[in-house]
Amino acid sequence: MNTTLTNEVQDVKKFFHGYAADFDSIYGHSKSRGNFDKMMDKLFRKSMLLRFNETIHETSKSSIQTILDVGCGSGVYCVEFLRQGKTVAGLDMAEGMLKIAEEKTAAFKNSGKISFILSGYMEYEFAQKFDAAVLMGFFDYIKEPVALIKKLQADTTKELYMSFPRKGGFLTWQRKVRYNMRHCPLYFYTKRSLTKILDESGLKDRYEIRDLGRDFFVKATL
Ligand SMILES: C[S@@+](CC[C@H](N)C(=O)[O-])C[C@H]1O[C@@H](n2cnc3c(N)ncnc32)[C@H](O)[C@@H]1O
Repeated sequence: MNTTLTNEVQDVKKFFHGYAADFDSIYGHSKSRGNFDKMMDKLFRKSMLLRFNETIHETSKSSIQTILDVGCGSGVYCVEFLRQGKTVAGLDMAEGMLKIAEEKTAAFKNSGKISFILSGYMEYEFAQKFDAAVLMGFFDYIKEPVALIKKLQADTTKELYMSFPRKGGFLTWQRKVRYNMRHCPLYFYTKRSLTKILDESGLKDRYEIRDLGRDFFVKATL
């Protein structure tokens, strides 16, 4: 397996390592932010909460016991999965993010139910399979989603939950400007382009796309 990150993935990694605390603060935690950032955080928080609620509802069922959180970031989802009694592996390539995630899940450290992996997803080979995989706020940064969704199907046995940012509108434009300035690539999706990606990934007739406004939420059944 190729374990070298491409230059573009390195850029994403660098961006999120430096952005970790600010990202976590969008969820409404401490840390002071400027007025513009606060306004944008508010807009993002709304769509982040929608996809969070959607995911937590899905993972609450008893058929889902082991969860792979790909691009787990600061661990907000991991904490909730642990509260649901699930066994969780959080993978992220940004060290700064994993550090916060470890702090957030410290109460569960000795439960044997949480592990973290510092790696790019495509570069990591798992020794086990998971009931479900969660990828929230992740495909925004993925150049080749088809290859990635194919790997997800090898790592997971039951369900996938994924968010994809919708193309168009003010939020798309302002994110592009902000992220470009920091050399972080961004990808957006229309319902049509998303359908094509999911079909090409081998998921045809096994997924539903839910419209959450800024995001599409996809649930795939394997
Ligand atoms: C916007 S954050 C989302 C965090 C979390 N899922 C949430 O919704 O709160 C995206 C995360 O994906 C990680 N990431 C992006 N591309 C990745 C890749 N190829 N492999 C592993 N992690 C990646 C970033 O480091 C970042 O922490």
